[in-house]
Amino acid sequence: MLLDAFTQADYAINITDPDGRLVRVNDAYLRLYKFQSESEILGKTQRLIRSSSTPESLYKDMWKTITRGETWRGNLVNRAVDGSAIHIHLTISPIRRDGKIVGYMGFSLNREQQVLLERQLFHANKLMVLGTLSAGLAHEMNNPLASVLLEAEYLRKLFNREGEADKAAGLKATESVIRGVERMQRVLNHLLQYSRKDAIQGMENFTVKRLLEEAFLFMDRQLMTRGIEVTVYADESLSIRGNYTQIESVLHNLISNARDAFSEWETGEAKRISIYARRRENQIEIRFEDNAGGIPDHLLAHIFEPFFTTKDGSKGTGLGLALARKLIEEHGGTIHCVSQFGCTRFTIVLPAGEPA
Ligand SMILES: Nc1ncnc2c1ncn2[C@@H]1O[C@H](COP(=O)(O)OP(=O)(O)OP(=O)(O)O)[C@@H](O)[C@H]1O
Ligand SMILES: [Mg+2]
Repeated sequence: MLLDAFTQADYAINITDPDGRLVRVNDAYLRLYKFQSESEILGKTQRLIRSSSTPESLYKDMWKTITRGETWRGNLVNRAVDGSAIHIHLTISPIRRDGKIVGYMGFSLNREQQVLLERQLFHANKLMVLGTLSAGLAHEMNNPLASVLLEAEYLRKLFNREGEADKAAGLKATESVIRGVERMQRVLNHLLQYSRKDAIQGMENFTVKRLLEEAFLFMDRQLMTRGIEVTVYADESLSIRGNYTQIESVLHNLISNARDAFSEWETGEAKRISIYARRRENQIEIRFEDNAGGIPDHLLAHIFEPFFTTKDGSKGTGLGLALARKLIEEHGGTIHCVSQFGCTRFTIVLPAGEPA
């Protein structure tokens, strides 16, 4: 009877020996990971179902907790036999006999539905923030367009003149046209790619420089026209391992928050956003600072809570920072905020990638 209950349980259950090798799994476990039979996996470790989307630090934390004799709970991504991603909430506890750990038991709850909803939320937030960021998109396009038009008119004049055209001057104007068009193409391509629903790719290595450049691509001018100066201090070699679109959306949330804070704060002081990135062992730390007035202590404790906002209904949903924290933590990273003397600093720590 007990064995029947185990075999037929709706939760995926697996039992391992103290070294993490599979001893028993139930039917739901086989179904979840699309294995044919128990015999093909017994004796193997859970590496069988590991996905590179789960940060290494999570496994370390899990292993440390259970070998200490405690229960570990958390969300992670595994991989089924056919390569598809399996999102689960895992509870894993030691099994003891006479006080000694003789194995571990894992319960997996399929999070497929929840992940689907989380993705929709992420996408909605991305588009909303993008909507406010790219209000400056028209400006972003206007400047290169104006210069392209100017250079093209010059070229027409050049070739309309009597006699031979000045080749060097013509080439220079042509170069300028190409640069202007390339810049517009870059902004538009990035906009299209970023706002696609399936922009959620897997983990990749990317440089901090590319991340920061592209994150500001849509709004350089919007910040400039508001008199906000952006300074970036980041070594070109720094790189991160993560999901590019997700990390970029975290930055967009921080940028839009700083922009909003500046609009409510007039000190006469120069408005500044400063970003510092550096390597700390096998992690990258990004500090994002503004001098837009700061956050009072009694609010600071709540800013990462979902739906916490000080903005009126049409302006903010209060989801930006809650999502940012969720995304960063799924990468095995951290995000913290301190605010003092009118300045706010967000510190993000993420796993480093291969050096560029
Ligand atoms: N740089 C900042 N300076 C001052 N206050 C900030 C800053 N960043 C965040 N806050 C405060 O934290 C609150 C929560 O931020 P969060 O991004 O989660 O939500 P929101 O910006 O209000 O709404 P949403 O991001 O969903 O549009 C903000 O309403 C604001 O009060
Ligand atoms: Mg926000």
